[in-house]
Amino acid sequence: MKQSKPILRALAGETLPTPPIWMMRQAGRYLPEYRATRAEAGDFLSLCYNSDLATEVTLQPIRRYSFDASILFADILLLPQALGVNLWFVTGEGPRLSTITDAAGFAKLKGKDDIHEHLAPIYQTVRNLAQSLPGQTTLIGFAGAPWTVATYMIAGRGTPDQAPAHLLKSEDLPVFEALIDLITEATIEYLSQQILAGAEVVKLFDSWAGSLRNNDFQKYALAPTKRIISALKLRHPDTPIIAFPREAGDKYIGFAKATGADCVAIDNSVSAEWTAQNVQVDGCVQGNLASRHMVTGGQALIDETTEIVKTLANGPHIFNLGHGITPDADPENVQLMIDTVRSCT
Ligand code: CP3
Repeated sequence: MKQSKPILRALAGETLPTPPIWMMRQAGRYLPEYRATRAEAGDFLSLCYNSDLATEVTLQPIRRYSFDASILFADILLLPQALGVNLWFVTGEGPRLSTITDAAGFAKLKGKDDIHEHLAPIYQTVRNLAQSLPGQTTLIGFAGAPWTVATYMIAGRGTPDQAPAHLLKSEDLPVFEALIDLITEATIEYLSQQILAGAEVVKLFDSWAGSLRNNDFQKYALAPTKRIISALKLRHPDTPIIAFPREAGDKYIGFAKATGADCVAIDNSVSAEWTAQNVQVDGCVQGNLASRHMVTGGQALIDETTEIVKTLANGPHIFNLGHGITPDADPENVQLMIDTVRSCT
């Protein structure tokens, strides 16, 4: 099928004269209009489950910047909640969840097909967006990858080194693997429903892939990603999939081929030159400007943006940050980044 939207063309392997652009966490606290809608919703989770307001915040960065893609406003931790986990957010600290640390805790979780009633408002947001986005804007759905979601379900919060998940893996492998399996199967159903509701691309966020070493990376980052992608490709062969095994380092090499991903998102711990030589040779890459430039701006932002665009200009590339934009970012720096990308080619 011949694609016309720039993101879909890049994902199909086309090298475009100017890379399409979007930004992780583009709907977020650095925008005054986001903070206003979030206040109206009351809190972050209420915003995620209010389809009208979630649609509104998803559209805000599109109105302001005309990004080439819009990412559904939701969170990777809504799936554990749909599986029966308690979830809440502590202001200034982040997520808290009831923990799964043994077979009895695992046994209380719901099944992979029991999630849809809870997630119905998210599918409604996707349907709203499919109706209201401008014609050139691609709608991206997403989920967390199983390892990353499991780290939160086991620890009950974000952790710097994912130690509780590594501990469960060494002390009770059957429970750990059953949890990875359940998340994998539920993620297939969740993403499949997002695609049926109108998501044109889906992305898997494996934010903590970097803490898996050697064989563990193959078993718990690569294999579940491959399983999700294979199942989705059977059901939805035309929907491109972006994988983001963050901080995978040299394990980015060959990741797209091994998993069937149409694009690999790259964090900013590796250079654009390394990415061009080692990852882009296999197809589309997304990334990888350091988010701190959205705070600091200036000539360094211009130089680094130009370097990334020029270095990745010989293959399919979607311009993005290496991780999400932070709440202290200056909205004007985002515009400077976009202007730089569009003028340096
Ligand atoms: O990118 C987008 O704009 C789409 C929406 C989106 C959010 N979270 C909204 C959000 C996406 C794709 C995510 C993914 C997500 N959520 C990840 C993977 C990507 C990554 O950042 O590594 C993870 C690990 C989470 C879990 C999560 N959600 C954490 C750890 C936090 C707290 C940290 C923080 O930034 O406050 C959240 C909250 C969250 N998710 C916010 C947003 C806009 C901030 C909530 C607020 O308004 O207070």
